[in-house]
Amino acid sequence: MIKRDFLSLLDFSSDELKYVIERAKALRQQHERGEVYQPLVGKTGALILTMSSTRTRVAFEAGFSQMGASVIFLSPGDTQIGRGEPLEDLARVLSEMVDIIMIRTPDQADIETLAHYATVPVINAMSSLLHPCQLLADIQAFEEHRGSIEGKTVTFLGDGYNMCHSYINAAKQWNFDLRFSCPDSHQPDADILASGKNVERVLDPREAVEGAHLVVTDVWSSMGHEGEEGDRRAIFEPYQVNESLLDLADPSALFMHCLPAHRGEEVSETLLDDPRSVVFHEAGNRLHSQKALVEFLLLGRHA
Ligand code: CP
Repeated sequence: MIKRDFLSLLDFSSDELKYVIERAKALRQQHERGEVYQPLVGKTGALILTMSSTRTRVAFEAGFSQMGASVIFLSPGDTQIGRGEPLEDLARVLSEMVDIIMIRTPDQADIETLAHYATVPVINAMSSLLHPCQLLADIQAFEEHRGSIEGKTVTFLGDGYNMCHSYINAAKQWNFDLRFSCPDSHQPDADILASGKNVERVLDPREAVEGAHLVVTDVWSSMGHEGEEGDRRAIFEPYQVNESLLDLADPSALFMHCLPAHRGEEVSETLLDDPRSVVFHEAGNRLHSQKALVEFLLLGRHA
């Protein structure tokens, strides 16, 4: 089998992404029925996180365990990664020992270097540019609640950063309409936007939400922007998602956030508990969609 990487949603065809989502839905149902499914007995993964994580780490660690595989967590402080071992060497060493590598690190170029030198699949577990694993969970969650996302209207509010970029890629791959509303000072990356399809900037966040089937936001200060919180709060305040803003969306609208959320900032104090919020189901899907992704990369189309 030819090695494949998942560094961006654009690394897979639209058909492959849809297959992974269908598998993720099936794996969630299987898990909820309490069925044991261990197609990866004897396989090992390496999970490199140079930035904090709760959901991504637990989803990979629990997922590997549930599928009969093992995963080794590598933090920079406990390994030679933190002492500057070149990624080119790390990729080749890990490829001798494990079957797949997951990496979260700020610079997308570092993930691409690792993938280039690795002879086993590499998964982007988040960079400052992209968060493709999160989008698998989000699309799965939307479709589990509302059916196909194709042709629907999705609104992203807030920082034109990795989540916004991933939604731009997703709009192309799943053929939905994306409206984004971000302050002038925090627009998405121009190249990602230029490669997008079905994407429209809407200046007024209220107008952007009107009639939307899914409303999404993310924190105003992502990892790497520590110390900018005060300035950012003033800039992003008009983009807070609250119940009255969500009332402008379609009556069937859902709300999603990749979490962790800052109540009282990008979301109102109570929004996560609103019936339209599916953030905890969405978070749970990190487990099932990452299992489906790993299964696809290691076994191909399966079951
Ligand atoms: N959404 C997300 O990636 O969560 P973690 O940072 O906790 O992994």
